[in-house]
Amino acid sequence: MPRQPSRECQILFSPSGKRGSVPEGTSVLQAAQHLGADLDSVCGGRALCGRCQVEVTEGEVFGLDVASSAGNLSAMTEAEREFLGTSSGADNRRLACRARIIGNVAIDVPAGSQVHRQVVRKPCEAHDITIRPVVRPYFVAVDAPVPGDSRGDLERLCESLSREWGIDVAGWDQQVVTHLQRTLREANWKVTAAIRHGRRLVAVWPGLKDRLFGVAIDVGTTTLAAHLCDLGSGEILVEAGRMNPQIRFGEDLMSRVSYSMQNPGGRVEMTRLIREAINDLVAELAERAGCDANDVLEVTVVGNSTMHHLVLGWDPAELGRAPFTLASNRAVDVPARELGIVIHPSGYAHVLPCIAGHVGADMAGVLLAEAPWDRTDMSLVVDVGTNAELVLGNRDRLLVASSPTGPAFEGAHISAGQRAAPGAIERVRIEPGTLQPRFRVIGSELWSDQPGFADSLPAGGVTGICGSGIIEAIAELFLAGAITADGRIRGNDELPSERIVRQGTTFAYVLLDGQPGVQVQQGDVRAIQLAKAALYAGARLLMEKLGVERVDRIRLAGAFGAHIDVRYAMILGMIPDCPLERVSSAGNAAGTGARIALLDRESRALIQRRVAEVEKIETAVEERFQHHFVAALAIPHETDPFHDLRQVVALPDDDTDTDGRRSRRHIRTSMT
Ligand code: FES
Repeated sequence: MPRQPSRECQILFSPSGKRGSVPEGTSVLQAAQHLGADLDSVCGGRALCGRCQVEVTEGEVFGLDVASSAGNLSAMTEAEREFLGTSSGADNRRLACRARIIGNVAIDVPAGSQVHRQVVRKPCEAHDITIRPVVRPYFVAVDAPVPGDSRGDLERLCESLSREWGIDVAGWDQQVVTHLQRTLREANWKVTAAIRHGRRLVAVWPGLKDRLFGVAIDVGTTTLAAHLCDLGSGEILVEAGRMNPQIRFGEDLMSRVSYSMQNPGGRVEMTRLIREAINDLVAELAERAGCDANDVLEVTVVGNSTMHHLVLGWDPAELGRAPFTLASNRAVDVPARELGIVIHPSGYAHVLPCIAGHVGADMAGVLLAEAPWDRTDMSLVVDVGTNAELVLGNRDRLLVASSPTGPAFEGAHISAGQRAAPGAIERVRIEPGTLQPRFRVIGSELWSDQPGFADSLPAGGVTGICGSGIIEAIAELFLAGAITADGRIRGNDELPSERIVRQGTTFAYVLLDGQPGVQVQQGDVRAIQLAKAALYAGARLLMEKLGVERVDRIRLAGAFGAHIDVRYAMILGMIPDCPLERVSSAGNAAGTGARIALLDRESRALIQRRVAEVEKIETAVEERFQHHFVAALAIPHETDPFHDLRQVVALPDDDTDTDGRRSRRHIRTSMT
């Protein structure tokens, strides 16, 4: 008897909108694969991984000619009941690999079951991350050898991957073959293979392994920060940070470069230290996430140019002298073991590209995170570290530059300065007239004039003032008239106050009396003026190059951007005038960029392309930079009017200097 042709059933997948008809009896997973709907599976339809969970829609569905019903799928199987933990299936959730289509259905694929799901961003991040993992696990049953079959185990594994998953393996890591035969036999020929970039076999585990991990690392001059992520879901499982151990060779980048140049073996030593720190960090993350460093298949790394070169073991000497040439401005994608990074033996490290001599892979990360090329408005993105890196532009054109701010914003070269750590004054308010201060300290929730403040301080009490604290102190003193627009601390003859004390030929403001006391000294104001003028001049130079007088929005990246009060940054004239509500923190945007590169393989090609396209402005050789720098030494600026700022803050009269005007010459002289 001729076989009855099978009935065709209609199926619609949401949110992809993929629809079509499939023969009755087709599994929902097979239908999704046939129609190209985004539906995850690691076990290949064996009801082992639980990644293929879907929901059936009941009733009339727009786009489907007839009603959808849970009854149009085959009965719930025992395997599903075990997996989904339900005896009734009342919530309409099914395993797509078990549920067979026997009528018209509309299937919703929840975010957790999509391969290319979006990871919802944190509040400070610019956009969601699309998960397109560079390395994925595939469960596969390999044919056991039989007499007469001359194929090797590796070849039979590859053939099974091709048959079950359509993967055409184009290469493998030698390490995979080392233990392959034992693994296959011990696992009764059922293994999970990790495939990188869709073609390369990088690992094999016995049985089902449905979660792989990756670590995104931001190597800063002062600190390292890292996130351990589930490469399938994009979820951040653990994050951790630690001090950069190279700090013993100098606080700033140039000290590190000098050390490597002047000391035989210095570069090798610094590379060893930073790699050790990365390994410690990865081990800590893995332990806290309840996995093993061996489960980490991929790391991505961002960092400023010097850190980037040192992690890679490259000589940073040329970054220390004009014209500040990079060893390479291409991304590096190598087995992690080549960099001495201890993860899975076949794991890879992807180091994002540097942009220019002083615009490193950290800014490449910031760019990925902020994606200014998607915007029509004019964005200024600023990443302040021991050097400021700036990007200005929109979808039409992007310029980058670095400005030599030095480490003053991090509390260095400030008389009572320290890093942002418990005990540091981070917020300051000063009463105009009396000049009485109140302040807050990292580690305490209370202001200094609130009851219980002394008891709330961290062990060790007040230890100094950090970058945000000194910025607020100087801005508040300026608003109170105790610091002139050219940055001079007024003497007692002009502004009688017990808080103003003489120090040789200049004066200082006593923020906290005692041992240790905290003063704002004339040298501190000068250090901040120099740093802020460099930052502003860099931004102004980019604006001039682009031919714009205003920016529409400003994003402040990095820890500094997260902690600084933008109002005070504006009062000091660190950043161009802009409505305050349009200035925001981008959080650790460099770290976010490293995470994007970890989770979305397409972002890697994108940033390499953008890095090549973006226009690099070298502030060191631009004559106009010096012009902008000198004008920016005044608070907030010698000539720029800061109209938006004046809408919300009453700035002291401009004519506040002793000679009745803000003199560029005077500022220049006092700076030297
Ligand atoms: S595909 Fe793994 S449980 Fe359905």
